[in-house]
Amino acid sequence: MGNMKVAMRHGLELWVDLNLQRTWDAKLMQPWPFAPVAWVQADLVDDDNYRRENFLFGAFCSSYVTIHLQQLRLRGGKNLRGGTIIGFGVGVANEAELSFVTSVNQMNLNFLGYDVSEVAVRHGREFLNNLQQGKTSSVSSQLNAIHHAEIEQLCREDTFLPAENICIYAARFIQFLSREKMQQVMYHLGKFLRRTGRAVILVHPLPEKNPKVTWTNSSAYSLKELLEPTSEGLGGSVDALRQLDCLYYNQIYTGLTLQAR
Ligand SMILES: C[S@@+](CC[C@H](N)C(=O)[O-])C[C@H]1O[C@@H](n2cnc3c(N)ncnc32)[C@H](O)[C@@H]1O
Repeated sequence: MGNMKVAMRHGLELWVDLNLQRTWDAKLMQPWPFAPVAWVQADLVDDDNYRRENFLFGAFCSSYVTIHLQQLRLRGGKNLRGGTIIGFGVGVANEAELSFVTSVNQMNLNFLGYDVSEVAVRHGREFLNNLQQGKTSSVSSQLNAIHHAEIEQLCREDTFLPAENICIYAARFIQFLSREKMQQVMYHLGKFLRRTGRAVILVHPLPEKNPKVTWTNSSAYSLKELLEPTSEGLGGSVDALRQLDCLYYNQIYTGLTLQAR
């Protein structure tokens, strides 16, 4: 199965890998797509605990991003106006996980999400439409959008490098890339960090914090494995700041803010 053309942007043709799209579409339509496989197999997952775990995870991610933006505002003042926050892999956005988009807009910033799955794109757009309807006039001019695209291709095209993009956010995303793709994407994120003041926010499971967890469909890349290609892309050292943990079932996810030293 091949690739599918999904859009033309700035003269570039965007393609998504149909296999990848179908795999994620099918996964996201399962009843508890992100629950640990071992817990599902042991019959320990139900609708109630799934809703609660994802709500708490989403609330953690949202407040983690919001804190970073508040600090940016303190340092950058009005210069941030019109800047964009990029989201990699929005998933089936729940209210808690993308609630930081409200803070983004209140600071006169835009949110652009990207996902390879049509199911995720549909959910994400619905979420943004609902947000738009509840907006006050002071934030209604902000531009939020979810695009159907594959992150690796956008990285190859240097799509995220223009100056208006001030932060890239990727929760539960990098762990689903093969090692080779992880290294390519992290290298690009390093290039993104060359411009002063930018940050990359990851919410990622570190192996040293999860010694007893078996990762069935994803990989808990270590900080060293993540930072090596990032430093290479930056051409200098990268710091992983503000490391905060969040429990999701039996898994520990860590919020990390990557910045150029
Ligand atoms: C595990 S979900 C995480 C969603 C959300 N960030 C969260 O934490 O709930 C990963 C998302 O990334 C998307 N995705 C996976 N690989 C991708 C790629 N190479 N390019 C774009 N999106 C991708 C999937 O479709 C899915 O929606």
